[in-house]
Amino acid sequence: MTQKTAIVTGAARGIGLATTDLFLAEGRRVAMVDRDSDILAEEAGKRDGVVALHCDVSDPDDVAKMAEDAVAELGRVDALVNNAGVADFGPIDDCDFAMWRRVMSTNLDGVFLCSQALAPALKAAQGAVVNIASISGLRASTLRVAYGTSKAGVIHLTQQQAAEWGEFGVRANCVCPGPVRTKLAMAVHTQEIIDAYHDAIPLNRYGSEQEIGEVIVFLCSDKASYVTGQVVAADGGFQSTGVGLPALRS
Ligand SMILES: NC(=O)c1ccc[n+]([C@@H]2O[C@H](COP(=O)([O-])OP(=O)(O)OC[C@H]3O[C@@H](n4cnc5c(N)ncnc54)[C@H](O)[C@@H]3O)[C@@H](O)[C@H]2O)c1
Repeated sequence: MTQKTAIVTGAARGIGLATTDLFLAEGRRVAMVDRDSDILAEEAGKRDGVVALHCDVSDPDDVAKMAEDAVAELGRVDALVNNAGVADFGPIDDCDFAMWRRVMSTNLDGVFLCSQALAPALKAAQGAVVNIASISGLRASTLRVAYGTSKAGVIHLTQQQAAEWGEFGVRANCVCPGPVRTKLAMAVHTQEIIDAYHDAIPLNRYGSEQEIGEVIVFLCSDKASYVTGQVVAADGGFQSTGVGLPALRS
């Protein structure tokens, strides 16, 4: 079986769906993984070369079943994109343990569980892992105690994976998207936040799902065969410009 494959979590919409389409365009078969069965079935039904797998990535039993089914359906696993994520913003004082766990269980536990469950198949194929973090994992900000901390954890987890799995020929890299107008972002971005992002981003705009997907697909490809343990911000320059004091602009 020579056709390359990929597993994308959170594939039913947003960045995961765009990444699925980019993988399909380069001839890969894709396992689309999501916990939202309705939209997953709808989107998978519109595409050839995909298999839809219902799974809550925060549930160890679900993940074990998903990994088994994905390997059975695809035959080999050349890439795993841990993209499923949730955002819940609020001040530290208002972040109760339920909110903390809701965010951590998908954003960080999910990456750990899916990667571990698929590690044997990734080693067999000398595949690649790409974990989706966020600029919120690179720079602290208000309201993101759970979200930002979960994403900082994803960045370090990626480096742990690169350190341990390099000897098996498995690469692990991390993509930190800047703001993209997906359902996740629009639920927590007010107009004020949108305007502030435009102001703080050198390219003066939000990114698109495809622009993030292109970086993910590159890192999974043979073109990135000597790249592992890296953190790539696809963010219009937000991370590189530090505080970016408006008073220092010409
Ligand atoms: N949109 C942004 O501005 C932005 C910025 C930085 C990082 N990100 C990250 O990009 C990733 C994709 O986000 P998006 O903006 O495309 O969001 P989205 O809400 O459009 O899509 C997320 C998908 O993940 C699925 N999902 C959520 N929790 C799940 C779980 N426990 N198990 C299985 N599936 C689950 C949802 O059903 C949905 O289909 C996330 O990890 C997010 O944190 C997004």
